[in-house]
Amino acid sequence: MAFATRRFVRAASSSAATAAAKKLIVKHVTVIGGGLMGAGIAQIAAASGYTVVLVDQSDEILKKSTKGIEESLKRVTKKKFADKPEAGAEFITKTLKNLTTSTDAVAVVHSTDLVIEAIVENQEVKNELFKRLDKFAPEHTIFASNTSSLQITQLANSTTRQDRFGGLHFFNPVPMMKLVEVIKTPMTSQKTFESLMDFSKAVGKSPVSCKDTPGFIVNRLLIPYMLEAIRLFERGDASKEDIDVAMKLGAGYPMGPFELLDYVGLDTTKYIVDGWHSLEPNNPLFLPSPLLNKLVEEKKLGKKTGEGFYKYN
Ligand code: NAI
Repeated sequence: MAFATRRFVRAASSSAATAAAKKLIVKHVTVIGGGLMGAGIAQIAAASGYTVVLVDQSDEILKKSTKGIEESLKRVTKKKFADKPEAGAEFITKTLKNLTTSTDAVAVVHSTDLVIEAIVENQEVKNELFKRLDKFAPEHTIFASNTSSLQITQLANSTTRQDRFGGLHFFNPVPMMKLVEVIKTPMTSQKTFESLMDFSKAVGKSPVSCKDTPGFIVNRLLIPYMLEAIRLFERGDASKEDIDVAMKLGAGYPMGPFELLDYVGLDTTKYIVDGWHSLEPNNPLFLPSPLLNKLVEEKKLGKKTGEGFYKYN
């Protein structure tokens, strides 16, 4: 029995070794899109020791992204190295050394192991980018999208590497939020999926896996919840203030649904709902909200425009 167990352990560890040998070890990462999400992803990858190139459309945007990253790193360092300012300064220097920027995705992608796309949420624009990069990236390179609402499968189909394509859905603000949803399409290989899980853990996150279904896990639950809150308010059953207080004090949520809607941006929520509604018109959870549509039409988009469900100074 002991012999059989030992033989089993040896066999298992040798097959694990073979699998590990086959798994892609990511060293060089290209992040495309230096906005809110892309800058955060580039920051945590560089801080975790990856060589990172952050790509955007102009040097001006990239300057802004880099400035934002530097400020965020200072905030992180103040907390993480509260008693060791020298170690903190060294951490910032090291991180920034790992990070460069470029406006030419095609030129940088030839030496990269993992491309993470975080550009504008538009199917055609993303498809066009992936199609172009597919021609120039090495065979082994994995492509991942940070999309919140588009189908990963459709993006993968714009390339010839559907088996090396998955979703890496980070949360805002990226340096603070611990979760990453790793999305596996029916075409994503196990090796690719494992590499994406490994990468997520290596940048300090707790990955969960989900199939390529609308909203993955978090948004699939959050969006219908926020829409139901709007309907409750529209029917006059409760005020938006009371609904927010109720969910904070009764459910322990850090924000109420209307505060969350304003934080996320009403246009973003509308865009997601409209997309899902066109995919599944009979699903009552995805029915568009007249009040949400009206506020978006009036350009009351939430915190970013100074007014949404609430007013901001
Ligand atoms: P953002 O608008 O802050 O940044 C997008 C950046 O992409 C901009 O700097 C823009 O110049 C750049 N860009 C656009 N087209 C480009 C191209 N062809 N090549 C290179 N750069 C290009 O957007 P954000 O919020 O960072 O969102 C990016 C992606 O992340 C979207 O797919 C969004 O759905 C997703 N996401 C957003 C979250 C959020 O809370 N904002 C949360 C999770 C995912």
